[in-house]
Amino acid sequence: MSQVTLTDLQKHRENNTKFSMVTAYDACFSSLASNAGIDSILVGDSLGMVLQGHSNTLPVTIQDIAYHTACVVAAAPKSMIISDMPFMAAATMQEATIAARALSQAGAQMIKIEGGKNLLDLIKLYQDHGVATCCHLGLTPQFVHRFGGYKVQGKTQEAADRLVETAEILNKAGSDVILLECVPNSVTERIMKVTNIPVVGIGAGPLCTGQVLVMHDLLGITPGNPARFVRNFMAENKSIQEAFRAYDRAIKDGSFPAMEHCFAD
Ligand code: KIV
Repeated sequence: MSQVTLTDLQKHRENNTKFSMVTAYDACFSSLASNAGIDSILVGDSLGMVLQGHSNTLPVTIQDIAYHTACVVAAAPKSMIISDMPFMAAATMQEATIAARALSQAGAQMIKIEGGKNLLDLIKLYQDHGVATCCHLGLTPQFVHRFGGYKVQGKTQEAADRLVETAEILNKAGSDVILLECVPNSVTERIMKVTNIPVVGIGAGPLCTGQVLVMHDLLGITPGNPARFVRNFMAENKSIQEAFRAYDRAIKDGSFPAMEHCFAD
């Protein structure tokens, strides 16, 4: 089987079919995920919390993401590999260029960046250099201190309108994918109407083209109470490989996310 590419994700959007994505950070887990048929692996800055033990993602560096991207790329030849831009690593155009070079040379096929309309120049820079981008909107964990915690976004009419407008602008500017985190289903529905690129959701409801979860959450090994949008696939399966397969299947047959994993207005 050949490696999943951006073209495959775009076909899912055109054909209204679903794709699966999971975070992974090392060779062993990404090999299991890739062999289970998971379309895409995100080397997320969530590694700052689940691997490094920090209380948020801000301490993660470009060296961390590049290192873990190389580990994943070495073991998951079938899945599309997306890498996260860490906090403030693309604060200037020069830093953004150096950071994208490090992640692309480590093997990333796409770079995910948190933000909003401030990403317009970055999208253009990356487009000019052939780097595919995924803009992360909604609950962007790098903004945790401004949000005052990890809270559902787009709940008021004004906030919802802002998110929809931002998604439309970023789509028109050339973002290749949008990742939507923790927004009510009604916001996702509106964003799907104003965009034509793949939209990946985490806590953004079943209308998204793709779904992503942090690996430790779907395997039920994150300490504490799971977030509303998480389903523990390990609870129903005997091995990690089977849990990954069940996750992929549930996304593709539409049984995940169910209403219990979604947010209302
Ligand atoms: O860093 C990460 O793992 C993420 C996911 C929560 C989407 O951004």
